[in-house]
Amino acid sequence: MDTAPAEHRKNHGFPTDQPMEALKKDHEFVKKLFDRYLNTKDMNVKKEAGPQILLSLEMHMALEETVFYPRVHDLDPSLVDHSEEEHHQAKQLMQQIKAMNADDPQCDQMFRQLSDAILLHVGTEERDLFPKVQSSNLDLNALGLEMSAFEANMVASQAQQSARSDMRR
Ligand SMILES: [Fe+2]
Ligand SMILES: [Fe+2]
Repeated sequence: MDTAPAEHRKNHGFPTDQPMEALKKDHEFVKKLFDRYLNTKDMNVKKEAGPQILLSLEMHMALEETVFYPRVHDLDPSLVDHSEEEHHQAKQLMQQIKAMNADDPQCDQMFRQLSDAILLHVGTEERDLFPKVQSSNLDLNALGLEMSAFEANMVASQAQQSARSDMRR
């Protein structure tokens, strides 16, 4: 399976005419990473999947918070505000996880808690928010182009950062 963040986009690119399909692909991707993390006792797998979960979520949330949510906010302000609040809560869990040692047996429980929170959140987006956006008269292609550009920038600066930290090793 593709494991690098946004790697799963490489084969088909960002579907600019269907931006919510890109978000759903991210959701599927992170669900697979959670499955991988939670269904193994192999610490090496956990140590690989754990940081991938956090980075994938950070990038996905940045994409939604910076571009997607602001553009769709007026379609249902309370639903979008609620979604932002769920991001905020997930990020608090993510901060706690980052502060822990990967060998800490409590990590599993924290990742399970994060997985539960993310599954609920993703369910709300896919069931309530995305269909509203789909049936609105928003220009989805323009939205998709903007999201694709934001993501490309984010992936490039993330690659630069990891190249820099590789050099420091
Ligand atoms: Fe979200
Ligand atoms: Fe999402």
